[in-house]
Amino acid sequence: MCGIVGYIGTKQAAPIILDGLSKLEYRGYDSAGMAIYDGEQINIQKSVGRLKVLENQTRGGESMPGMSGIGHTRWATHGAPSDTNAHPHFNESGTIAVVHNGIIENYLQLRKKLTDKGYKFVSETDTEVLAHLLDYYYKGNPLEAVTKVLHRVEGSYALGIMFADCSDQVFAARKDSPLIVGQNEDGCFIASDVPAILKYTRKVYYVDNQEVVRLRADHMHFYTVDEEEIKKEAVTIDWDANAAEKAGYEHFMLKEMYEQPKTVADTLNPRIKDNDIVIEELNMTDDDLRAIKKIHIVACGSAYHAGVTGKYVIEGLARIPVEVDLASEFRYRDPILEEGAMVVVISQSGETADTLAALRESKARGFKVLGIVNVVGSSIAREADNVMYTWAGPEIAVATTKAYSAQLVALYLLAMKLGKVRGKIDDETFASLLGDLRCLPDQIELLLNNKLKIQKFANRYVGAKDVFFIGRGIDYAISLEGSLKLKEISYIHSEAYAAGELKHGTISLIEEGTLVAAVSTQPDLYAKTISNMVEVKARGAFVLAVTCEENKEIEKAADYVIYIPETNPYFANSLAIIPLQLFGYYVSVGKGCDVDKPRNLAKSVTVE
Ligand code: AGP
Repeated sequence: MCGIVGYIGTKQAAPIILDGLSKLEYRGYDSAGMAIYDGEQINIQKSVGRLKVLENQTRGGESMPGMSGIGHTRWATHGAPSDTNAHPHFNESGTIAVVHNGIIENYLQLRKKLTDKGYKFVSETDTEVLAHLLDYYYKGNPLEAVTKVLHRVEGSYALGIMFADCSDQVFAARKDSPLIVGQNEDGCFIASDVPAILKYTRKVYYVDNQEVVRLRADHMHFYTVDEEEIKKEAVTIDWDANAAEKAGYEHFMLKEMYEQPKTVADTLNPRIKDNDIVIEELNMTDDDLRAIKKIHIVACGSAYHAGVTGKYVIEGLARIPVEVDLASEFRYRDPILEEGAMVVVISQSGETADTLAALRESKARGFKVLGIVNVVGSSIAREADNVMYTWAGPEIAVATTKAYSAQLVALYLLAMKLGKVRGKIDDETFASLLGDLRCLPDQIELLLNNKLKIQKFANRYVGAKDVFFIGRGIDYAISLEGSLKLKEISYIHSEAYAAGELKHGTISLIEEGTLVAAVSTQPDLYAKTISNMVEVKARGAFVLAVTCEENKEIEKAADYVIYIPETNPYFANSLAIIPLQLFGYYVSVGKGCDVDKPRNLAKSVTVE
């Protein structure tokens, strides 16, 4: 998604903005631009392509002197990637500039109205409407112009706005798309996300929906869209500055894979007290938990895959029916939510538009929503009734690993808590489950340290065309995530299939040498999965098996076996996914793909 950085202060703005935008590249983009006020006018430079192009064009910002400005990296929604469609957009006289992350849903109507009034548009974007609408309302009072525009537009926005004849101020505004502001002794900052300004300040303000910020060189004021001044509390970011850097790893994804032991421990430990599970953030009494009749898990992508595992674990341990929905489906299928239902939304970024919409739909129907979220202060975190944070820290690689692993353990904790209070788990079983949970971080570390075996295997499949992942039950959920990891970072076609489903069609695709990764971590399904492996082998497949150390029988059916340490079958996903993450990573590296910023993808999909 788009990235926004703004600055006003006593330093040159352009280098600060370029530096900030470079920390937001992970959000995915296809063009970049800046608007800088040079003391007399607003100068704009923007171009399609990587941020490096803009840096070269402006000699690292030197060719754009000035101490206030706004910058943007654009992930195209309305209008193809091009210099003209890149942000900032501006009014005809060039006295107003705006950068925007989000979608103005009524832009066509507004564009027609403005065109009828004689305004001329040069781009295909929805954002340009904002520049001309600001021009239309601006009569010398910038705050008034901004708030009038915000009353007219529908949709989502995070904005940076400059007015040439109010050059001592820069404005920011937000609705649904993430935005923060911050301050240090050299000035004030706007950013889409913390990494952009972390080197300048750790004290940030999360801009809430329909709030406007007026930033000056030495202070900021916050307003509602009705121009009422409001007070906000700052949040101190305790992330280690390196946490948003690669810390010596070749890619953020590898760094974040290796952070999974810590991520899992950080998510587990605060919630295990005196050999019991305490999830205070649920804000629910044991009676509330016992009253839950059904759980709806709603998410996208890998978060959805974690939800599929959550279904098996919650139904298995707590005996509560669980329905898992893709958020993009949930919000449009008029879902049936009945009395006693609880909705759980899962989101790493906390900004995924479809998941946020599903949350709002559920709340609008009067149902409480629990958010399992990684980003503190994100939209989903702030709109959910209760939030269970995954404490994975900033995840920069587009392909999620550590946040996904944290989502899994959050769901294990929820399942065990529900199972215990509902009398479905006896004390002995509970103690055993806790013991297995506590072992996960070390077991993940062990698998990561055995990466060479999977790395060698991956190198053999850099040229693969189709790869299938199969499994039954939780193993199917693991297959879904293993397949997505390979697809999204190596661009190799892959499918995950419920192993019992192969014979209903997909097995026709198996040819000599086709790689089939069979996941088999559920003891009561070992034999069934082995028979599916035999089926595909009989048609020429090469079978990689990921299974538990006890399952030696599988060696009769597999060509290559990766063993995972013993754990409770409900938690096996947390271990089996590690070799599959490494497999996707090393295939991607072997193909020379952009591992951290795969083509067409964004870290946070804040549009539909
Ligand atoms: C994960 O590797 C993908 N990049 C993507 O599927 C992601 O999980 C999905 O977009 C949901 O994002 P969220 O967790 O931030 O809501």
